[in-house]
Amino acid sequence: MSGQVLFLTGFSFSGKTQVGKRVAQSLGWAYVDTDALIVEKAGKPIPQIFAEDGESRFRELERQALRQVSRRKKLVVATGGGIVLDEENRDLMSGKGMIICLEARPETIYQRLLRDAEEGTNPVVRPLLQAPDPLERIRYLKRFRQPLYAVAHCTINTDSLTVDEVAAKVVHAWQKAAPETATVPKARGNRQEEQAPYCLSRLADLVVQAASASYPVFLRPLQDLGELMSQIGLQDTTYVISDENVFRSYGPMAEDSLRRAGFRVSSYCVPPGEGSKSLAMLSKLYDWVLGQRPERGHAIVALGGGVVGDLAGLAAATLLRGIPYVQVPTSLLAMVDSSVGGKTAINHPLGKNLIGAFYQPGLVLIDTDTLRTLPPRERVSGWAEVIKHGLIRDAEYFRFLDQNCESLLSLEGDATRQAVLRSVGIKAEIVGRDERETTGERSLLNYGHTLAHGLEAATGYGRFLHGEAVAIGMAGAGRISREMGLLPAEKAEAQEKLLERFGLPTRCTDIDRERVQEAMSLDKKVRAGKVRWVLLEGIGRAALRDDVPVELAAQALDSLLLH
Ligand SMILES: NC(=O)c1ccc[n+]([C@@H]2O[C@H](COP(=O)([O-])OP(=O)(O)OC[C@H]3O[C@@H](n4cnc5c(N)ncnc54)[C@H](O)[C@@H]3O)[C@@H](O)[C@H]2O)c1
Ligand SMILES: [Zn+2]
Repeated sequence: MSGQVLFLTGFSFSGKTQVGKRVAQSLGWAYVDTDALIVEKAGKPIPQIFAEDGESRFRELERQALRQVSRRKKLVVATGGGIVLDEENRDLMSGKGMIICLEARPETIYQRLLRDAEEGTNPVVRPLLQAPDPLERIRYLKRFRQPLYAVAHCTINTDSLTVDEVAAKVVHAWQKAAPETATVPKARGNRQEEQAPYCLSRLADLVVQAASASYPVFLRPLQDLGELMSQIGLQDTTYVISDENVFRSYGPMAEDSLRRAGFRVSSYCVPPGEGSKSLAMLSKLYDWVLGQRPERGHAIVALGGGVVGDLAGLAAATLLRGIPYVQVPTSLLAMVDSSVGGKTAINHPLGKNLIGAFYQPGLVLIDTDTLRTLPPRERVSGWAEVIKHGLIRDAEYFRFLDQNCESLLSLEGDATRQAVLRSVGIKAEIVGRDERETTGERSLLNYGHTLAHGLEAATGYGRFLHGEAVAIGMAGAGRISREMGLLPAEKAEAQEKLLERFGLPTRCTDIDRERVQEAMSLDKKVRAGKVRWVLLEGIGRAALRDDVPVELAAQALDSLLLH
């Protein structure tokens, strides 16, 4: 944050204009309203711009207005309700000033809208009131914009406050977050370090910016779940989906937190294990949720490992054509991998994850303390994906893992949180660039997975935990990279050494190499009969290759699959 500009964001009728004027008065600053600037420039009212020139022209004028005001100093800016929809606008605001979001519940917004309609003063009233069910329309719009409003330094709930009270809170927030110490809540791995305590409750540890949606990731105690969910605008009813192991330890805490935040809560436990990612279980979930007359604004909470996250996510993606969901991952694999990125799926007898959808959560809450009850073998398995992130993207992170191995294995709090956050940051960055795996970038996350899937399939999914297979798979891909002349031998060794220090296997016995290769060639990552490998060109640098000679791969596999 560089300049002295205060941006007020929030849905229409959250009070930005009145509050903005009052704040400007108290600080002795100037005040502008982006909508007013647009009207002035276009020489006609906003509904007329929409009608005659279209929404895209309006958005262009809005960007210009924002660029213009961002160059100024000592200025309070009330922004239009849709300004956060545009990534450039969000970046500009977070780079140039402090963003304060004014929040209000849909009911409050509706009340204010009716009041304004009577007074006939506000041009935005009409289109909203023309909707068949205006309150539902407000809920709908808010739900989609809410994660974007999360890109704010601070949020103020205005429901029960007067304009003066809100203005006083804004001034207070500005004074506490002195420009020198406040950092930008921009996105992708930016850690919020020295925020004023007043703003803390709202700040995400990072924001995932995928093409279809942006959403915050919080590393916080599970007890904060309800509060965070209401902060992103969820309310009313939640359906907690968990598995029996996880629910036993954390279900009551999650339910309690949700109830304290005013949610109605009901919970459903599936049996633990991969078997629950089935059509039969999904169908049971549908029956259970639909029996409670869900509405579009109600949310599913996925409390558990990757199995629960994938299953509950797919239920959320499909119920009523999509209701919001929140990921609360409790296994290491789910924290660093499956909870972020929006892949949801169940299995089919013909293969894993064959039925699914891309559907991003509304928020992710990670409480690393829940790892303490995760069975040790599951924990070790999760480290494989963490190490993978260093290997494919970040040599410095790989060194961090090497240096902090013991602290991480004993789940020392600070190191664990740092590792989880860096891993989520890497996953988020890649997903941000290639949400649907179309450019090849997201495929880099499959480092070690070509062989891992072969091993898992060849052993009937019963022998290895996923991370164990991935570790052997990475050792294999490392050796292939070495044989292809891409990776120096000592780097391939460093990789195997680190995997072993984390207690992961790098080779295995009693597996028939041909069966593994056969299973690999049936995998969905095979294109036109060629096995695509993700290889390393150095620690921290991965590349996709489909030119690995079959004999060379066979040799590398033979050196790992011992008899
Ligand atoms: N969607 C994605 O992008 C993605 C990515 C990777 C993996 N996955 C999927 O994730 C699944 C594997 O996830 P997983 O490894 O978390 O498996 P899991 O969900 O089965 O969890 C592993 C075991 O640990 C238990 N558990 C979880 N958290 C616990 C805790 N805090 N305390 C005690 N016990 C706990 C569970 O009950 C289970 O028995 C697979 O189905 C895989 O396909 C999805
Ligand atoms: Zn994986």
